[in-house]
Amino acid sequence: MNAIPQNETPATESPQTDGPRPQPQAGLKRLTLAPPVALAGKLMPDVEAATLASLGPDTVLMMGDNPALPRMPARPRLLDFFKYRFTDVTCRHLLTSGKRALDDGHDGRIVIACLLHDIANGCLLRSDHGYWGAQLIAPYVSEEIAWAVKYHQALRYFADESVGYSYPDSYVRFFGANYQPPEYIQRDAEYARNHRWYMSSRLITLYDIYFFEKSDPINPEIFTDLIGRYFREPEEGLGFDGSPVAHMWRTMIWPNNSL
Ligand SMILES: [Fe+2]
Ligand SMILES: [Fe+2]
Repeated sequence: MNAIPQNETPATESPQTDGPRPQPQAGLKRLTLAPPVALAGKLMPDVEAATLASLGPDTVLMMGDNPALPRMPARPRLLDFFKYRFTDVTCRHLLTSGKRALDDGHDGRIVIACLLHDIANGCLLRSDHGYWGAQLIAPYVSEEIAWAVKYHQALRYFADESVGYSYPDSYVRFFGANYQPPEYIQRDAEYARNHRWYMSSRLITLYDIYFFEKSDPINPEIFTDLIGRYFREPEEGLGFDGSPVAHMWRTMIWPNNSL
């Protein structure tokens, strides 16, 4: 596991913060352990035991804000995660997908589904990202939007020439020319194809294109009105509303918490 000593420099206050807040565990050297799922199968030394052995009076496991990350507002909203947590590639991919759907005149629910379709990749998990992403947003969007996000993962592997969707060239590059998705993906794609919301999920795949080199930066704020209509922002902030998925948002706020 990964142990990164964090320096004790106070966090640089960025404009999004709600005023100065003290760093947690002040005066102590703070160690982080990467999540086991991120390290399984990697050719890296397992440093978990060594990290635990190195704890002492002035060395602890990190809990709370990590100065290496922008500090989140006390009541984080959806766009705060785009701005302060999501990886650059995923952030641009989501914004570009949403913008293209918007420019093509689709209604708000499709634009929001495109904007959120890979949200799990932003700062949480890549494996089975459609399923994780759907759970992450389910309490805040319509059932149809969450459904579309869930099933886009499976539908991506299957062409539908009737709507102009071909098997993605990028998947040949990513996974090899002869890759076959597992049985559960085939089953879920078949299920989705016969569902009344099929086209909502299929539209996500139509706008799910990797065009990073060509895309100009997109201001996330252009989606503010649509988010207001299609994403129920909790008053307490994402992560603090007591929803069944609040812990998933907190994990992105404090990805280096040890427990
Ligand atoms: Fe995806
Ligand atoms: Fe995508």
